[in-house]
Amino acid sequence: MTAEIKATLSFSDGSPSVEFPVHKGTVGPDVIDIRTLYGKTGKFTYDPGFLSTAACNSKITYIDGDKGELLYRGYPIEQLAVNCDFLETCYLLLNGELPNVTEKAAFVKQVTTHTMVHEQMQFFLRGFRRDAHPMAVMTGLVGGLSAFYPDSMNTADAKEREISAIRLIAKMPTMVAMAYKYSIGQPFVHPRNDLSYSANFMRMMFANPCEEYELNDVLVRAMDRIFILHADHEQNASTSTVRLCASSGTNPFAAIAAGVACLWGPAHGGANEACLNMLSDIQAEGGVEKIGEFITKVKDKNSSVRLMGFGHRVYKNYDPRAKLMRETCHEVLNALGLQDDPMFKLAMALEKIALEDDYFVQRKLYPNVDFYSGIVQKAIGIPVPLFTAIFALARTVGWIAQLNEMISDPEYKIGRPRQLFVGSESRNVKPLDQR
Ligand code: CMC
Repeated sequence: MTAEIKATLSFSDGSPSVEFPVHKGTVGPDVIDIRTLYGKTGKFTYDPGFLSTAACNSKITYIDGDKGELLYRGYPIEQLAVNCDFLETCYLLLNGELPNVTEKAAFVKQVTTHTMVHEQMQFFLRGFRRDAHPMAVMTGLVGGLSAFYPDSMNTADAKEREISAIRLIAKMPTMVAMAYKYSIGQPFVHPRNDLSYSANFMRMMFANPCEEYELNDVLVRAMDRIFILHADHEQNASTSTVRLCASSGTNPFAAIAAGVACLWGPAHGGANEACLNMLSDIQAEGGVEKIGEFITKVKDKNSSVRLMGFGHRVYKNYDPRAKLMRETCHEVLNALGLQDDPMFKLAMALEKIALEDDYFVQRKLYPNVDFYSGIVQKAIGIPVPLFTAIFALARTVGWIAQLNEMISDPEYKIGRPRQLFVGSESRNVKPLDQR
């Protein structure tokens, strides 16, 4: 990084001013490099929630929140969603370029030959209660991989990282499907390597030993699109968690398990489940006619009710993934003869009312990816509690690409934020009978 522009920080208490380099990215806001601030002034910066802080430099994903633009390695998400499949997208995120025919065939072969999990994994899974939330199960299973694949644990070794990456991408669908089958008391369905990544996942989810699952091209394509749209999203909470976790040198399975745990929250990946539950509640209370009442609750500062699937830290415009997801929603519902699906109608009515309401307009709150993804998944037959696990499956490649990028960065250091301490100064412990 070279810097021609400088930023000067001055203080009102007469302390000397200090200068910092300003770096330019390829696109997006410039960043002021404050790494020497503490050394020069003995002061830290304060930015809880990282509202103005770039924690790394990255070449992977770029979001223009004002335009509503999302690029993976420079390619618009709209083009990737139409022209590529998920494994091509994985290759792109991991390697920086789209694969040619030979590279794609080799990558697909590599992934498909790692789809099985160690047989012992199922006994580990069987230790969970059958009603456990799939994200609790996934956090355990992904972390548990480190106990099964000790030969690819050294994060510092590029070869071992590559094997772990392939194992994670290949085994996530198997583990999500196993978590589902276990929850409904059905036997696990083994992967079939002659099927595409998404078709194999759907078969593992919905086939059983008595009945083969009939694959529907529209639904398989929709699943694949869900995976592409969720594959990466630059430095969001779970990705930053993975980076911070891996910065200690821990193994990749442990770091990705940390990402899964973070993703679970309703403000992040858990929003798809929360959004569908919200739509179901409005539906149960009377549907479209109750939207006005619901919106009033959302706008009431004392209610803590949020319109789930709306709003984003970075997008101050329509999330491009939400547009593609709405399109996919139409395709899937048409293919299943569910054009009049009441939930979809409710979502569209809710979106329209919210987009015309001053509260949402002023705060630039638009639908995000989670607003329609739940409706698509429900139509495909995915149970609501599994939605976030599907998100985790798809985001795994993004987490790995970001982890690899961090470890390969010569400027990489263990993450260690500082604090503004507002607690008690040093004091003496009194004996118990004097407290
Ligand atoms: N419904 C109602 N009000 C909202 C919403 C919402 N969904 N989102 C933001 N606001 C309001 C918020 O109350 C605040 O108003 P005020 O300025 O009057 O206090 C203002 O908009 C700014 O909100 P914020 O919470 O400061 O914004 P943030 O950038 O910290 O939060 C967010 C972003 C995604 C957590 C938030 O918009 C939200 O909770 N949305 C609902 C959950 C959701 O859909 N999450 C999925 C995000 S996309 C997928 C992913 O990242 O995993």
